[in-house]
Amino acid sequence: MAISIKNVIVLGLLALCAGVHAHSDHHHNEDEEIILTQSKKEELLLKWEQEWGFSGVSTFAHMKTVKCLIEPDERYDIAVIGAPFDTAVSYRPGARFGPRAIRAASGRQLPGTSYNARAAINPYKSWATILDCGDIPITPFDNALAERQMYEAFLELGTRPAKTTSAPNDKGIGAGKPKLVTLGGDHSIALPALRALYQIYQKPITVLHFDAHLDTWNPVRYASYWLSEQSRFNHGSFFHIASTEGLISNTTSAHAGLRTRLTGIDDGDYTNPGPEQGFMRIHADDIDDIGTSGIIDSIINRIGLDPDQPVYLSVDIDVLDPGTAPGTGTPEPGGWTTREMIRILRGIEKLNLVGADIVEVSPSYDNVGETTALAAAQVVFEIITSMVKAGSGRDLGGWYGKKDGEVFEGGKGKDEL
Ligand SMILES: *[C@@H]1O[C@H](CO)[C@@H](O)[C@H](O)[C@H]1NC(C)=O
Repeated sequence: MAISIKNVIVLGLLALCAGVHAHSDHHHNEDEEIILTQSKKEELLLKWEQEWGFSGVSTFAHMKTVKCLIEPDERYDIAVIGAPFDTAVSYRPGARFGPRAIRAASGRQLPGTSYNARAAINPYKSWATILDCGDIPITPFDNALAERQMYEAFLELGTRPAKTTSAPNDKGIGAGKPKLVTLGGDHSIALPALRALYQIYQKPITVLHFDAHLDTWNPVRYASYWLSEQSRFNHGSFFHIASTEGLISNTTSAHAGLRTRLTGIDDGDYTNPGPEQGFMRIHADDIDDIGTSGIIDSIINRIGLDPDQPVYLSVDIDVLDPGTAPGTGTPEPGGWTTREMIRILRGIEKLNLVGADIVEVSPSYDNVGETTALAAAQVVFEIITSMVKAGSGRDLGGWYGKKDGEVFEGGKGKDEL
């Protein structure tokens, strides 16, 4: 934990007061005061700096929290930001409590003990400054206004220069720009995120979308008669809207983990170019035939590793089977396990991520073991690991990132950081 200047000043004042009280019969020596303050601070750090997984105010992975939206000079390389919004759902509401639940479930990601052995890096003890930027205060009363608030917030946070201006791997379209990881919220938060990213990068964004559902529904399919401008914006139609606005790259985007029911009496939803919107489709069942490595290869082949093509990773927790993630808005039996998901995320660590979200965690449907929130916190850990690793500018190898024929020796690359 960094020692803030404010704390030093407060402690200094305390020491000064104590000094005045104890030695009121002689003048202070300012140098003495400073030394006293420093040693006192060191002693306090030694005694009290440690945190436990269950202690402390709940921020993501015990990271420093700043309400970045009202601190224009705050700088970060990666910002975790909560988007507690759930008034665009079609089934179970409650994802507005997702950010709180995910933060609580991240408690055991203590920075000092977060070496990711699968990736050969501790993302919280590396070059990147990572902050928990708190939540966007989003209205629950007016979705059009909520969407605007989120757009403006993402734009505000995403257009600031990154903290590490010459990041070790300072190349490609994301150079010098901070990365945002959003804790949802229902899935519609991805629309304002994509609008902001389009503004920032000035080109269509590649979307890698993990989900049981397509989320590209033409809004008319929800209600052909009772349709309003407002009802068009919901958690199943936002990719349709984003695509018609030209925000999504039609040649490099992909859905992964699909197992949704379609409309009508045939697979017209798949063959009609309207709802398909240029995404490649990987189905949940494909994993039985091609395994996690086959899923990884399909994704990389589709999306590519072009440093000038920005990629947005959107993870709906319902991509996981309800057995491993029951606390979600629209559960669909037959999904991937948390272990498979982690493995796939590790396999795609070289993608050029410029932003990511984890959405649809609805804690009131979770269990007492916090199964869903734990899975979501782990997904965020893996995503942040990949962002930090990609920016490290080194080939760290790692368990899954190992070169052909190389044997995992444990902790490889650890000493280099
Ligand atoms: C992608 O396809 C949709 C639907 O056909 C279209 O409206 C949109 O403009 C396309 N996007 C890009 C970036 O070309």
